[in-house]
Amino acid sequence: MTEIFAPSHSLLSGTDEARRTRIIAIANQKGGVGKTTTAINLGTALAAVKKKVLVIDLDAQGNASTGLAIGRAQRTTGSYQLMFGEATIAGSAVPTQIPGLSVVPSTVHLSGAEIELVDTERREFRLRDAIRDVTDYDYVLIDCPPALGLLTLNALVAAHAVLVPLQCEFYALEGLSHLMTTIERVRRAFNPALEIQGVVLTMFDRRNNLSDMVADDVRSHLGRRVYDTVIPRNVRVSEAPSHGKPVLLYDMNCAGSQAYIHLASEVLRREKRLAA
Ligand SMILES: Nc1ncnc2c1ncn2[C@@H]1O[C@H](COP(=O)(O)OP(=O)(O)O)[C@@H](O)[C@H]1O
Ligand SMILES: [Mg+2]
Repeated sequence: MTEIFAPSHSLLSGTDEARRTRIIAIANQKGGVGKTTTAINLGTALAAVKKKVLVIDLDAQGNASTGLAIGRAQRTTGSYQLMFGEATIAGSAVPTQIPGLSVVPSTVHLSGAEIELVDTERREFRLRDAIRDVTDYDYVLIDCPPALGLLTLNALVAAHAVLVPLQCEFYALEGLSHLMTTIERVRRAFNPALEIQGVVLTMFDRRNNLSDMVADDVRSHLGRRVYDTVIPRNVRVSEAPSHGKPVLLYDMNCAGSQAYIHLASEVLRREKRLAA
């Protein structure tokens, strides 16, 4: 294993409070904004500081499962079975190559779930009922699909907090206001305690003035809800999944890896504040 698994990484040490599972939904109805990349790499960075982490792959595309090198043969039981009462977390979680990081994979069945859920009892609460009592993990990260349908709704109802990756592009704020409205509706109807852990700017391109403008705009609208950490556009980040590795294992020193380590330390700091 690489050196990020050394006992105390300078940025991430001193986080040994008692275990209390926190469930964080990683959501944005836009595709390609960095949800899966954030689930995999934030999960890896948290595992590197000895947190027990579970990623739940709630997207039928299964990118989180692929990116964590879970082969097709290991994808017989997953998030679909969890939501439909056919499996428990213990019966569906698969260990990854990263110590302390497991994944509930996405299976082929999940592609029909959005429609099947419509006529299911407690359809908004299926995931919550299945995972809310979990105690084996410090963090459960739910990688949501690119839509505000029943799957993402299940994630928002199950979660203590939501983390929103936001790509630095022109329409970013427009999509965000729609998501914020949805979060507000979920709070009112199903999950009053749902918090916004934060918004993380992704695929930031230093050479592009638009990136700076969007970042300024988002910060002026959302203030402290936006993490200080910005994830740069970095080719190493996009190469890593084809090697079945988080970028933190693929190239720990690249700018993308360093950014995800910073993001993890920020998330941990906020968690401490939220728990206080
Ligand atoms: N910081 C980054 N730099 C470069 N490419 C990235 C970065 N983050 C994500 N990508 C790439 O962009 C694509 C979309 O990212 P992904 O995490 O799959 O988004 P989502 O889950 O929101 O659809 C993927 O090919 C991914 O490898
Ligand atoms: Mg994805």
